Amino acid sequence: MDANFAGLGFRQGEAVVVTGAANGIGREVALLLARAGLTVSAWDIEEAALNELVAEIEATVGTVRGVLVDLDDQGAIDAAWDEATSMGLPIPYLVNNAGPPSTTDVSVVEGLRMSVGSYVAVTEGWLKRHAAEASSMTFTSSIAGNFFVGPTTDWYPTAKAGIAGYMRHCAVKLRGHPRSNGVAPTGVVTRRTAEAFASEEMQQRLKAQPMGRAGLADEVAAMICFLLSPAASFINGVLIPVDGASTWTHG
Ligand SMILES: NC(=O)c1ccc[n+]([C@@H]2O[C@H](COP(=O)([O-])OP(=O)(O)OC[C@H]3O[C@@H](n4cnc5c(N)ncnc54)[C@H](O)[C@@H]3O)[C@@H](O)[C@H]2O)c1
Repeated sequence: MDANFAGLGFRQGEAVVVTGAANGIGREVALLLARAGLTVSAWDIEEAALNELVAEIEATVGTVRGVLVDLDDQGAIDAAWDEATSMGLPIPYLVNNAGPPSTTDVSVVEGLRMSVGSYVAVTEGWLKRHAAEASSMTFTSSIAGNFFVGPTTDWYPTAKAGIAGYMRHCAVKLRGHPRSNGVAPTGVVTRRTAEAFASEEMQQRLKAQPMGRAGLADEVAAMICFLLSPAASFINGVLIPVDGASTWTHG
């Protein structure tokens, strides 16, 4: 996809924080928003992939600052906000997207801390520093826990439902300042999942899906960028499946 989001109302001279920006969905969000004219504060724990993203944006589409951060560490989140704020730009936009793989072997309580807990901490850090200009944020949840509970780890659907609940809570409590929305993807091909999606078994399963294929990271990113943008100005508190209708074939 070669989408141009400049028409959605983003303004030059403003910035966005994108978490989990080094890979997959977050990477595509960072590229789209940089192309739309926002300065991107790209947060991730993977240094090499983050450097690669920064080099790509600087060489081609726009302005970016890479921030190395472990979102499972409150002190590191505070330092990342200080770093983003030091750019001296308004930060009206936040994309809460980073997440451990669904297969990560942790307890439910640890999984909640690593996903819901980190999204809450990042959001609170933003509102503490940038409430005056905060316009819109998104949360990357999943169909798991919201539209379907598959054969996955215990913590994953629990946490993804928790993320959607927090997203709705913010939509109501903050009264649109900022707006708060979410996406619920499933089966998205990324660098991390590419090998699993290439297997014969997975290819057969995908063929049985309504669209007969997996989703692409930029297809999820496109919905995130729309929900985030001024063009979605009366959309608040929704969780949009980005699943090619596969949700309706489960069960
Ligand atoms: N790929 C899918 O099929 C799928 C389906 C449903 C939901 N999701 C959700 O989409 C979001 C993005 O996933 P993706 O598929 O692009 O995955 P990905 O693994 O390609 O990218 C996730 C990024 O988050 C970063 N990250 C993870 N833990 C971090 C931490 N503690 N601190 C800082 N950065 C950290 C990783 O380094 C990575 O760059 C996640 O929340 C995931 O749960 C993905």
